[in-house]
Amino acid sequence: MKKGKKLYEGKAKIIYATSDKNYVIQYFKDDATAFNNQKKSVIDGKGVLNNRISEHILKNLSQIGIKNHLVKRLNMREQLIKFVDILPIEFIVRNIATGSLTKRLGIVEGTVLNDPLIEYCLKNDELGDPLISREHIYAFNWAKKNEIEKINKQLLRINDFLIGLFRGVGIKLVDFKVEFGKVRNSSRNEIILADEISPDTCRLWDAKSEKRLDKDRFRKDLGNLIQAYKEVASRLGILYEESNIREVNFKKAKAIKLKKNK
Ligand code: TMP
Ligand code: ASP
Repeated sequence: MKKGKKLYEGKAKIIYATSDKNYVIQYFKDDATAFNNQKKSVIDGKGVLNNRISEHILKNLSQIGIKNHLVKRLNMREQLIKFVDILPIEFIVRNIATGSLTKRLGIVEGTVLNDPLIEYCLKNDELGDPLISREHIYAFNWAKKNEIEKINKQLLRINDFLIGLFRGVGIKLVDFKVEFGKVRNSSRNEIILADEISPDTCRLWDAKSEKRLDKDRFRKDLGNLIQAYKEVASRLGILYEESNIREVNFKKAKAIKLKKNK
């Protein structure tokens, strides 16, 4: 499928048209932002890691029946995805209190929640993505009641799945944010999981040391963000192919050299 013109540029990704109006290409940038664009940087290689990690997670989610926009990863930075109209809501699921929850309500950092807590924020940078209630969503028609009910069920399944996936590799899933979108040209008005799931959009703590392995390294100036994202990819068994290719080439070169020297 041919890559067409740029349709939309967000803080961390760019969407390009393709020759098929139902599909677009999602390009992962290296840009990092926090606090709604107040803090900005470019972190070499972040987009490559997020592309690979998000592909791995969304592929696995579709295998357990969570429909999502991913068709396939195309290369180091791009994925072919279904074209969706993103709902103007950020869906947050929390297992352990941190971040804005601790600031807003004075809950002690690290408090383990009895049940997963779902929060909704309006996706609006100028307003700082404010927390909203379900009543706001229905009052302003940002989504319908039956849509939110379906999404909530999926959020809990996604949470269960991600907790297990990360627990298996010694990581605690503290919280995460996801987005959903309406599939373009779908007669059924289907709403599916979209955007990305990566260390940019999750809080991931090492199970033992509680070392932060996510974007909090950038938000809080902890440094070594790429090392942390690589650590996540490596534990998931998907540290990107480039290093393998380099290794293969290295071994090939070595073999050729040995042959020549014989
Ligand atoms: P918060 O504690 O800052 O509200 O963040 C909750 C979770 O949502 C955390 O995993 C980070 C993620 N998140 C995003 O992915 N994008 C955002 O714009 C914000 C505010 C949070
Ligand atoms: N993604 C948001 C921003 O760029 C906030 C965050 O992730 O902290 O500003």
